[in-house]
Amino acid sequence: MTSQFEYSSTLNSEEIEQLKGILAQCFGTSITNVEPYYKLIGINNFRIVRQGGKVIGGLAIYNMGQWYGGSSVPMAGIAAVGIAPEYRGTGAAYQLMSSTIAELFSTGIPISTLYAATQRLYRKAGYEQAGSYCVWELPITAIERGDRPRPLHRVDPLEYQLFEEIYRQQAKQNNGNLDRNKAIWERTVKPNIEEEETVFAYLIGDRVALEGYIIFSQSRQNNDAIIKVWDWTLLTKAAVKRFWTLLADHSSLIDRVHWKSCEIDPLLLLLPEQKAKIFRKEHWMLRIIDVVKALEKRGYPAGIETELHLEVTDEAIDSNNGRFCLKVSQGRGEVTKGGKGELQIGIRGLASLYTGLFTPTQLQLTGYLQTESEALLTAKLLFCGSNPWMADQF
Ligand SMILES: CC(C)(COP(=O)(O)OP(=O)(O)OC[C@H]1O[C@@H](n2cnc3c(N)ncnc32)[C@H](O)[C@@H]1OP(=O)(O)O)[C@@H](O)C(=O)NCCC(=O)NCCS
Repeated sequence: MTSQFEYSSTLNSEEIEQLKGILAQCFGTSITNVEPYYKLIGINNFRIVRQGGKVIGGLAIYNMGQWYGGSSVPMAGIAAVGIAPEYRGTGAAYQLMSSTIAELFSTGIPISTLYAATQRLYRKAGYEQAGSYCVWELPITAIERGDRPRPLHRVDPLEYQLFEEIYRQQAKQNNGNLDRNKAIWERTVKPNIEEEETVFAYLIGDRVALEGYIIFSQSRQNNDAIIKVWDWTLLTKAAVKRFWTLLADHSSLIDRVHWKSCEIDPLLLLLPEQKAKIFRKEHWMLRIIDVVKALEKRGYPAGIETELHLEVTDEAIDSNNGRFCLKVSQGRGEVTKGGKGELQIGIRGLASLYTGLFTPTQLQLTGYLQTESEALLTAKLLFCGSNPWMADQF
């Protein structure tokens, strides 16, 4: 960090209060509302930037994982990036992000993910669009009240341990889904403090062989009554049917349903007509913090034995620069330095390639990667898979 700014992971009690005040102002909320957020994240997971010895901004880090190719890759989720208004426009946020990335690299974290209020800042720090967060909307009358092939068991949503294993079975099949930590689970199951909504949770299936769960609340938006599905996991066709029928069983008083899913949502295949619309969509961004670790920690399609020769450029982290040979066998990757450098790619392009949000051909078209060899086809084979998405915002 330049001498103008000082990055730190240790805050004294006065600085903690200063940071709470800055973040409350940055995100348009009160210090009272920031308090539970502090407790949730844990003070050790905040980073600050000082100028002239004074705290001028900070951010939060969620330590968790993200599933790629069936493996959970350790990931640092960055949240609550905020700089006091009087210090904006002088590079403070960029310096804060750069120092955070350097710290993550030194602690061996392979990747980092965030939701960007402005892409420019995070692109400058090496992040690129990498997966989707998508809220779907459907008039409740578009769902048929069909079968009830499995029982439902009402449970306390706060007991998220009931859902963890079921969630994990689904999440590992979906590139980009979070390997959730305690803080993410608590955000998932606790009602929104300001709206004071009641949250309902049901396990689906026989107690000894659960096939899914649904967590939802009911609220009003304009003149409509809405069911908001906060979280779900459905492991079988019977569970998907039960999910839809449970929602349809609310049709006497509810107008619309919202749920979070991927952009091409297989749940819609069991509906009679194409009435669902994407209500909200956003692409989260990812940074490859450590090229070697990131490529080695994820999984690859089984049955492919090949080598991909990359040449990577990264302005921020020296060791990410140069040629890397990714040798894939039996679903795992091994990286050695050197090789032929057949596919040239910047660190941002590598983020989009890694998650599979964009295909190698699309990244070539937009100038994110260059190659004149069959490496393009190899990259297609290695980074194909389910379209990356997650149901969580942080
Ligand atoms: C967004 C925020 C953190 C930026 O802080 P900052 O210290 O002014 O940012 P920097 O001066 O380090 O800017 C770094 C780069 O991001 C760009 N940038 C910063 N704020 C931007 C904005 N609102 N819109 C577009 N670009 C922006 C800068 O232009 C600069 O890029 P450049 O050097 O290529 O011109 C600050 O405005 C803030 O705290 N906002 C309120 C909270 C918020 O939105 N946080 C982000 C949550 S994801």
